[in-house]
Amino acid sequence: MKAFILDRYGSNDGLRLAEVPAPELRPNDVLVEVHAAGVNPLDSKIRDGEFKLILPYRLPLILGNDVAGVVVAVGPNVRAFKPGDEVYARPDKDRIGTFAELIAIDEADVTLKPKNLTMEEAASVPLVGLTAWQALVERAEVKKGQKVLIHAGSGGVGTMAIQLTKHLGAEVATTTSSTNIDLVKRLGADTVVDYKKDRFEDVLHGYDVVLNSLGNDTLEKSLRVLAPGGKLISISGPPDAEFAKANGSSWLLQLIMRFLSARISRKARRHGVTYSFLFMRASGEQLSKITALIEAGTIHPVIDRVFPFDATNEALAYIETGRSKGKVVVKLK
Ligand SMILES: NC(=O)c1ccc[n+]([C@@H]2O[C@H](COP(=O)([O-])OP(=O)(O)OC[C@H]3O[C@@H](n4cnc5c(N)ncnc54)[C@H](OP(=O)(O)O)[C@@H]3O)[C@@H](O)[C@H]2O)c1
Repeated sequence: MKAFILDRYGSNDGLRLAEVPAPELRPNDVLVEVHAAGVNPLDSKIRDGEFKLILPYRLPLILGNDVAGVVVAVGPNVRAFKPGDEVYARPDKDRIGTFAELIAIDEADVTLKPKNLTMEEAASVPLVGLTAWQALVERAEVKKGQKVLIHAGSGGVGTMAIQLTKHLGAEVATTTSSTNIDLVKRLGADTVVDYKKDRFEDVLHGYDVVLNSLGNDTLEKSLRVLAPGGKLISISGPPDAEFAKANGSSWLLQLIMRFLSARISRKARRHGVTYSFLFMRASGEQLSKITALIEAGTIHPVIDRVFPFDATNEALAYIETGRSKGKVVVKLK
């Protein structure tokens, strides 16, 4: 099968399109013919070696963390799927590789594709949808009437997080630039801060939750908008010791991550709020709850561009500009 391979971390050559053997099917796996694959900043970061400590992959590696496609074979223990099923998934972090014609995924990480989405739309959902779900439903336990600030509302995570937060009945503020104000308002944002004109930390106060996906400066300023007892959740770092433990990292890495997050955790305590880092995980069960919201018309993915499979390196370069609105996808079928 054809696949985009990473031979060496940090190489300027990009990913290499190669002919490789089809993946082996484990007893609990479904083999998915990839019709479309979502592109994420995580792909670029893995390619550049930024995740070497957290995700120690063996190279060569097929990149790609999001898929929509059709089941073509199932392992002997698989009960929930059969050949011909249209599915989508974020494969387990240790078994990525959706920039390929086929991928084997544990059935626990897969769910049926929303009937009202194209393959390209479906492929854009899993990683960002699960991130928003795990941050807002699981970690923050957002309740009706609460106030939530979502940074970078026009990005892949932001577009999902705004819609999910509105569904949970909370009030949403978001940061974006002027070109994307209409987009985030259409998605449901109640308050929009144009980060090129205003300082969000001066205009927003009394928030229960902040979802941060930006840099350290934004992270620290976000403390000022939280009410006492509020929750600052960051998906862009710094990682903390709890994450290291859950990730099965060594005691040394746990120590390093405690050190990396010590400053923001200390500042959070001083503000009477909590800091935590979230690294999303695969879950077919949670994705099926997102499917229900998509089929009910509550959440709809926002697609910026669809690239042909051969242009996967160009798709990665496009998201690296940091300007994409919603999601970028590569199409195979
Ligand atoms: N830990 C996890 O599990 C996890 C999961 C998913 C993503 N992430 C991380 O979260 C980050 C965001 O991911 P993503 O997929 O949402 O990225 P993305 O789609 O590439 O984000 C692009 C968007 O960010 C906006 N943006 C850039 N700078 C901004 C600023 N200073 N203020 C407000 N908006 C800004 C841009 O809008 P403008 O053009 O208007 O600036 C653009 O629409 C990445 O670092 C990613 O690696 C982590």
